[in-house]
Amino acid sequence: MRVLVVGSGAREHAIAATLVRSHATIVAAGPRANLGIDPIAEATLRAEPTATAPIVAFAKAQRVDYAVIGPEAPLAAGLGDALRAADVPVVGPSRAGAQIETSKQFCRELLAKYKIEASPRFLALRSVDEVDVRVAEIRAPFVVKPVGLTSGKGVWVQGVDFQQPSEGAAYAKTLLASGGDGVLLEEKVEGEEFSLMAFVTDSGVYPMPLVHDYKRVLEGDAGGNTGGMGSFSQRDHLLPFVSASMRDRALDIVRKCVEALRQEGIPYRGVLYGGFMLTAHGPVLMEFNARFGDPEGVNVLALYEEGDFDRLMYGVATGRVDPNLMSFRLRATVAKYVVAPGYPAAPKAGAEVRMDLPSVETDGVRVFFADVTSPQPGKFVLGASRAFALLGEASAIHEASTRVEASLQFVTGDCYVRHDIAMKPDLTARLERMRGLIVPGAKPSPLPLSVAAADAPPSSAATADQVLST
Ligand code: GLY
Repeated sequence: MRVLVVGSGAREHAIAATLVRSHATIVAAGPRANLGIDPIAEATLRAEPTATAPIVAFAKAQRVDYAVIGPEAPLAAGLGDALRAADVPVVGPSRAGAQIETSKQFCRELLAKYKIEASPRFLALRSVDEVDVRVAEIRAPFVVKPVGLTSGKGVWVQGVDFQQPSEGAAYAKTLLASGGDGVLLEEKVEGEEFSLMAFVTDSGVYPMPLVHDYKRVLEGDAGGNTGGMGSFSQRDHLLPFVSASMRDRALDIVRKCVEALRQEGIPYRGVLYGGFMLTAHGPVLMEFNARFGDPEGVNVLALYEEGDFDRLMYGVATGRVDPNLMSFRLRATVAKYVVAPGYPAAPKAGAEVRMDLPSVETDGVRVFFADVTSPQPGKFVLGASRAFALLGEASAIHEASTRVEASLQFVTGDCYVRHDIAMKPDLTARLERMRGLIVPGAKPSPLPLSVAAADAPPSSAATADQVLST
């Protein structure tokens, strides 16, 4: 089939490459050239992904069978609605469905209305005048979240981004004074984060392997928030600190939210990504995204090699998915982004690196391109956003991470990478932190004794697949 892929990041490179592997023909629309997408696309349109009219005209002129929208901004701008109005089926919700991501208040209020018990205590603020009284009301420690889109960079957490409640209040006031859609104050919850992405369409909710995302810029999860510096997935499609029963509880929350949207008259066809915190009491929803995660999408799509991704995506776009198409290989994956020095606060756009691509792409490692150009072979110029991701796979998480590190020897120059991602000390620290939160005898179910135990070959490969395809 002919498919329009919208967006120019590493996530869209992974989507396009996975479609091409299943013999789809790609046409691409995005704001900039992409070193991975353009060579495999039959036609390209340079356009902001929110430029609805030119993208719809391009889709019609290219006679595409369906479209896949990668980023959130075009979903918020109504590109899904415009393409559907022009009879182009879409993987991506309507503007109304995308509110699950574009308005954190809509999301929290939906959960509250349908009594889906997955939210921390929260308060919605609309004006600067109510900040002080509301901050006094919310139990500290707390989190300040802009209601609208911030590319993952607007959330401030007490104890990390600010210390005193007065500092959180000052941040909330700054956000409210600068316009936007308001602010949420949420009680801070402790635990480890995990991403559960699922294909959602009329015929059901089809979960993908779990992924853990690294949002903070510096090693040890220090520094400011980013779009995501890297991510990993485990061979059995769980995570070292997330058991099958906890994954199933999170999936139940996702299913209930999809049903709640339906009851609100908002059918959903696309990817729904639940960002969860696994706490001592089970999974708490931190936010929904209305799309594949970036880089999480790179992890899971690398595992989708044996099925027919084109048919799967067409099924999502048209309302009926064949569950047999939900087949992800049982391998661990690790993604690490290469970014310009100073990213995200003051990125040195124009920084240059040398990369010997054939040497990097050996031994289970692949490169997914984002904000980077290549003026001559081997030379790469980094943009202000994340430049490119290295994705390694192996039978264990830390082996996949070690493979990425080995490949990074062939990337030299002016750049920054979080090297600690998914290395053994990092994985062990996460598991230990999670074990420390769990009161003996309390739910959730026991965690493995070590990362090695979690990362060991699954006792029954079929079990993980069966669970994931139900
Ligand atoms: N990696 C986080 C996101 O895609 O929103």
